[in-house]
Amino acid sequence: MHFQWYPGHMTKAKRMMQENIKLIDLVIELVDARIPMSSRNPDIDELGKYKARLILLNKADLAEEKWNEAWAEYFRAKGFLVVKVNSKKGSGIKSIQGVIQEACKEKIERDRKRGILNRPVRAMVVGIPNVGKSTFINALAGKACTKTGNKPGVTKGKQWIRLNKNVELLDTPGILWPKFEDQKVGLRLAYIGSIKDEILNTEDLAMYLIGFLKSKYRGILEEKYHINETAEEHQCLAQIAAERHCLLRGSELDIGKASMLLMDDFRNGRLGRITLEFPEEYV
Ligand code: G4P
Repeated sequence: MHFQWYPGHMTKAKRMMQENIKLIDLVIELVDARIPMSSRNPDIDELGKYKARLILLNKADLAEEKWNEAWAEYFRAKGFLVVKVNSKKGSGIKSIQGVIQEACKEKIERDRKRGILNRPVRAMVVGIPNVGKSTFINALAGKACTKTGNKPGVTKGKQWIRLNKNVELLDTPGILWPKFEDQKVGLRLAYIGSIKDEILNTEDLAMYLIGFLKSKYRGILEEKYHINETAEEHQCLAQIAAERHCLLRGSELDIGKASMLLMDDFRNGRLGRITLEFPEEYV
């Protein structure tokens, strides 16, 4: 995943979000379950101030279940509705319709009192790049949905996906940009591949990850790569290179390749379910 970091891009995305948010009742915010706080953009709380809010812990299949539960509790305590989902496989998706109604019950009640009946709830999916917005929209809308709104080419207008008679979804998700003035946040976004590897070189990133795994997920590296993980980080990386035959010409170890292999294994869940940040850091 690559994207450019230039202000024009971000300004445009933010302006689009501001325009779109006026049209909706509910903000469905996707976060990455492995880093639920670092994958949020703090602007969303301001932008979505008067809207119903639902947080989805997406990629829940890649994070440890006990921490998914702890994070769900954390956000619930702050007044959000929360659902754990795996958009790729579709788990958690079925419950969303009910949760949307629950999230918007005040609006539905307000409409009812004003004599407005059966006006569908309008929702927008938001999140940082690569968090799974398109995958989620596809999983939720499926193939059976119908597009409503103006016909392209006839009038300019928003496209809405009618999920059923109660819910319409804006078909373009709102892209928020991660904020990483805090080094820790930047590092975590880099771990999951949401910011360019070039920002931090892959070898350094791999060494930080090894350090983290050694302290929080002891034994995982030994089990996966059959190395002695009590060694220093750079030695662990060298062992992985040897174990996986990452070699340069002349049989020198290819540490760069080993670093990429480790990051790739982690990002694709091949090291198991790993949570990278924990609610107690954010009390
Ligand atoms: P975006 O619109 O927010 O930018 O994200 P997008 O849906 O394109 O998803 C980014 C990547 O995350 C995709 O992988 C997608 O399959 C994966 N993904 C989305 N939701 C989940 C989930 O709940 N669990 C897991 N494990 N992965 C998820 P990709 O590598 O770009 O493509 P592919 O390997 O699926 O082809």
